[in-house]
Amino acid sequence: MRITLLLAASACIMAAVLVHLSQVEGRLLRADPDAIPTNAALMAFARGRGEALFVAHCAACHGIQGQGAPGRGIPILSDSDWLYGTGLVSDIEQVIKYGIRSYHPKTWNLAIMPAYATAEPSARDSQIPSLSPGNIRDLVEFLIHEQGRSADSAAADRGADLFAGAGGCYDCHALDGKGDSAIGAPNLTDRITLYGDGSRESLSMSIAYGRHGMCPAWVTRISPAGIREVAVFVYSLSHPG
Ligand code: HEC
Ligand code: HEC
Repeated sequence: MRITLLLAASACIMAAVLVHLSQVEGRLLRADPDAIPTNAALMAFARGRGEALFVAHCAACHGIQGQGAPGRGIPILSDSDWLYGTGLVSDIEQVIKYGIRSYHPKTWNLAIMPAYATAEPSARDSQIPSLSPGNIRDLVEFLIHEQGRSADSAAADRGADLFAGAGGCYDCHALDGKGDSAIGAPNLTDRITLYGDGSRESLSMSIAYGRHGMCPAWVTRISPAGIREVAVFVYSLSHPG
């Protein structure tokens, strides 16, 4: 008899906890994602649950603390340098849902770094020209110069003309080379390199053979509340306190 009562009581408590959880998840989903950081209670709830999901699904690539693998194409998630958007919860959530160059039809896939040393650098835009090894060397000197490192200035001048002209680089990376987070084109003037160690060799590999980093789409694998929770956790990595 006692045991039955005890079981019934614990079932009631469990049910109450579940109802509470689903109520908080409901509030989380109804909230404006970018207002969540101003709500301490929702923030604490989402961050804790998001961390567990992050460890399970994301850390294998992005690292437990979102430290990424700079040099191997995995961006740092704990800094304020964003390939896509400006680091708002809504920007992060959009990437998590549909991924980047994933197979989801709504994925981010607006720009692909062409492979300039090949006969057809871009499968999408036949206007993008092939470049010679000399052109690529000039472009590399230009980028090194823009990063404030010492470069061959005559080559850098030729590279600047290619960047803003025939090479078409400005179209994605912007005329000032600072990139475009509406399409995931990285800033080329800072020293944060997604691929390689920032050496002349690694820059020329990117230009010669192109790049197409991929982040999976999670919309079919993590619940809507779970996706928002991970987005809040990722936001908290770059906004401590
Ligand atoms: C298989 C490896 C892999 C897994 C797993 C993965 N990602 Fe990614 N993620 C990437 C790569 C690679 C990129 C960069 C894509 C590019 O070059 O544009 C990326 C980019 C991102 C970005 C954009 C960063 C920026 O600077 O704009 C976010 C946010 C992100 N991932 C979050 C997540 C979250 C959250 C998870 C887990 C739910 C996850 N990723 C799982 C590989 C992965
Ligand atoms: C159609 C758009 C597009 C054009 C044109 C383009 N890029 Fe890119 N580029 C990108 C994208 C997108 C990435 C990031 C690829 C990724 O995340 O996997 C990138 C990456 C790079 C990288 C690697 C950056 C890093 O942090 O590792 C370099 C270097 C680069 N581009 C240089 C150039 C130069 C030089 C030109 C002109 C000759 C050029 N790009 C033209 C879209 C473009």
